[in-house]
Amino acid sequence: MPPGAEPRAGGRVHPKAWSGRLQGPTDPVLERYSTSVQEDLGLAEFDIRGSVAHAGRLARAGLIRPRDHQQLLSGLEQVAREVRSGAFRPQPEDEDIHMAVERRLAELIGEPALRLHTGRSRNDQVALDLRLWTRAAAVRLAEGVLGLEEVLLRRARRERATLMPGYTHLQRAQPVTLAHHLLAYFEMLERDRERLRELHRRAGLSPLGAGALAGSTLPLGRLEAALELGLRAPTANSLDSVSDRDFALELLFACALTAVHLSRLAEDLILWSTAEFDFLELPDRWATGSSLMPQKKNPDLLELVRGRAGRPVAALVGLLLVLKGLPLSYNRDLQEDKAHLFPAVASVEASLEALAGLLAEVSFNRESMAQAATDPRLLATDLAERLVQEGVPFRGAHELVGRLVSRAEGEGRRLDLVLRESWQEMGFAADPSGLLDPRRSLAAREQAGAPGPGATDAALRRAAAQVRRGRAWVLRETG
Ligand code: ARG
Repeated sequence: MPPGAEPRAGGRVHPKAWSGRLQGPTDPVLERYSTSVQEDLGLAEFDIRGSVAHAGRLARAGLIRPRDHQQLLSGLEQVAREVRSGAFRPQPEDEDIHMAVERRLAELIGEPALRLHTGRSRNDQVALDLRLWTRAAAVRLAEGVLGLEEVLLRRARRERATLMPGYTHLQRAQPVTLAHHLLAYFEMLERDRERLRELHRRAGLSPLGAGALAGSTLPLGRLEAALELGLRAPTANSLDSVSDRDFALELLFACALTAVHLSRLAEDLILWSTAEFDFLELPDRWATGSSLMPQKKNPDLLELVRGRAGRPVAALVGLLLVLKGLPLSYNRDLQEDKAHLFPAVASVEASLEALAGLLAEVSFNRESMAQAATDPRLLATDLAERLVQEGVPFRGAHELVGRLVSRAEGEGRRLDLVLRESWQEMGFAADPSGLLDPRRSLAAREQAGAPGPGATDAALRRAAAQVRRGRAWVLRETG
């Protein structure tokens, strides 16, 4: 706000902050093209929090009188109420949320509003707002991830003994349990949550006081402002402070990878719901029909989770492209960050909720999973490992068992029947066909991380503790 500017009649500030330098109205095309106020709306609450902290520093430095400070605080509180109730309406000439809040504040309290921007630029202001937004989004996403983790955990507990084939190359490979399969997704989501926690911490620095790019001649307490905002310190370099969007990129990467994990889970569930697999049944209320084919029951939600995963990936690349050619420090290109960030985060939040809702209610077809896991060929590796225990080098054992499998397939007979005739010539000390029992095989797989019952129980306990700690973190960060 230029020094001479006074609120007009009705408390309105001059429509443009730079009207001292630039003459006359801005071309409406430029105005329309450059405004970000609609997409900025999500920043409003953080913008106001930043202004409250900044006003405190101005008062402390004696740059505004206590009365002005009081009026600023009550005016900002009023704007915050209007934002919450939806009564806050940006005007077409508001260039962005920072100008919109300041304009509204001036309408409400008049002159003291013209003092708020002292020692501050929209460049450090928007960097602060976006960091606060990013941190809040990381907590919300972590909460969404926890919701899905809890469903996975609940379902896994009931499927500890549910036998199913594990796959590589989408070919049946070795028996696992459904619990083990579900817990694999739990691990991916744990890494996602860890990433969110870490980027939340890294984003926790305050750019306030960096000004437009070179700080300020005014004695503003940057550390105090940071602490008041719940951030651990001020950022270290004023140029970097206003041009850095790494925290937003990190959030987008966390979103992109979470979305890829959700997409993979969705893909497994889609496959399992086919007649070819027949491993699960979608509840009617989580399925869709066909407008043409009366018999159809489609997994549209899962397909949308898979398809929508493209959005955060595109947003990540989009924001990387905004940044890659930028000279220091602030450039208006940076305004594009929000258009990439906000909808991408919202899409991942929505996918987390949708997938958790569906997964909580699908019914797994245990018989058909077990049936698919009873093919004795899935235990060919167990046989080879038994030969190894009898002193045969693994490559030789692999070859012997491979030939046996090929013979069984050539004769169209089950592997266990062929083995019963030929175990002696293969060099086994005793009939090993008892090995070809998937439950026995699983029971022997008790190393850490394996699908054996003891290892699974340990994994379930560990997962429950991780979820408890995760909930406590969310509570701390939201409370
Ligand atoms: N709307 C702008 C953004 O989102 C705020 C900062 C504008 N700063 C400027 N000098 N024009 O990046």
